[in-house]
Amino acid sequence: MKVEEIKTIGIVGAGLMGHGIAQVFGIKGYRVNLYDKDQGILESAPRRICTNLHLFLELKLIEGSDMKCCLNNINLCRSMSALCSDVDVVIEAVTENLEVKRLVFAEMERFASQRTILCTNTSGIRVARISESLKHKERVIGTHFWNPPHAVSCVEVIKGEYTSEETFQTILDLMKKVGKEPVRVLKDIPGFLGNRLQLAFFREALSLVEKGIADPEDIDRVVKYGFGSRLPFIGPFETMDLAGHDLGYEVQKYLFPELCSDLKPLNVLKRMVDDGLLGIKTGKGFYEWNEEKIRSIINRRDLGLLELAKIRNKV
Ligand code: NAI
Repeated sequence: MKVEEIKTIGIVGAGLMGHGIAQVFGIKGYRVNLYDKDQGILESAPRRICTNLHLFLELKLIEGSDMKCCLNNINLCRSMSALCSDVDVVIEAVTENLEVKRLVFAEMERFASQRTILCTNTSGIRVARISESLKHKERVIGTHFWNPPHAVSCVEVIKGEYTSEETFQTILDLMKKVGKEPVRVLKDIPGFLGNRLQLAFFREALSLVEKGIADPEDIDRVVKYGFGSRLPFIGPFETMDLAGHDLGYEVQKYLFPELCSDLKPLNVLKRMVDDGLLGIKTGKGFYEWNEEKIRSIINRRDLGLLELAKIRNKV
């Protein structure tokens, strides 16, 4: 299938990621079929999309008429068969559980036409594990959006072990067409690119806290006001080229042996899980949270992301 032939997108799962992905396609004029097995979550999706779009309006990224069109383009479906009728691409954004995803893909194969491209938004499960028992695995591919999908440009497009070159190219083209920055992941490895990098970074951050070298606030500050300030503008390889590899090599020689290389989750995190300190969902993690603080941090994040997307002309 060529990207020009794609008119309707199906999204399975209307949770945190699914509703935002629906918005990405709805605002660009695609018809979107949205389904969630939880009726309440499905029914609340237009309201959540509307809230996101108000921020776009505030920043003058869209006009009132775009907002109406986006909402009109999104069709709530009551079943998988309704979702799959006449769709060109389906994106699965259900719970991160292999068995749940396999069942959803089996239903997608049952109800969608043979030419429909089937995508998974898994955070890191290998695409081939999800598609293993399907008849037509060549049209299954990974499309890893980042949270919040309507404000972060990058989508990792993962070529699974069985994904055809044609499927890979069409999905890369589709992501470009909706203003995303697709990144090609050529091998189907757990965690893909972004989560492997991010988790290596989280491991060191947790280890520094565990060793009592700094508290979480200061580690957050060294990232936000230090090297993190330049990350949206230059990546690690550009940074290394700027610094010079002779210097980089010397630093790696003495620093690598000092870095955390634990092969299991760190104790500091295990203790927090055991104590029910799960972050915003329980009101306490590394920080204390209440409704107002949660709203404020999410608003700060989304505003910053959209300002950045505006600078890059990527909305
Ligand atoms: P979520 O829990 O907010 O939403 C998942 C939705 O799937 C729920 O509304 C649930 O009712 C629905 N669901 C579960 N089984 C279903 C089924 N059989 N049929 C239809 N709907 C079903 O989860 P979230 O965060 O949106 O994650 C979805 C996927 O996106 C996961 O694979 C996750 O790993 C991935 N992801 C999540 C990110 C995040 O920051 N939350 C970032 C990038 C990817």
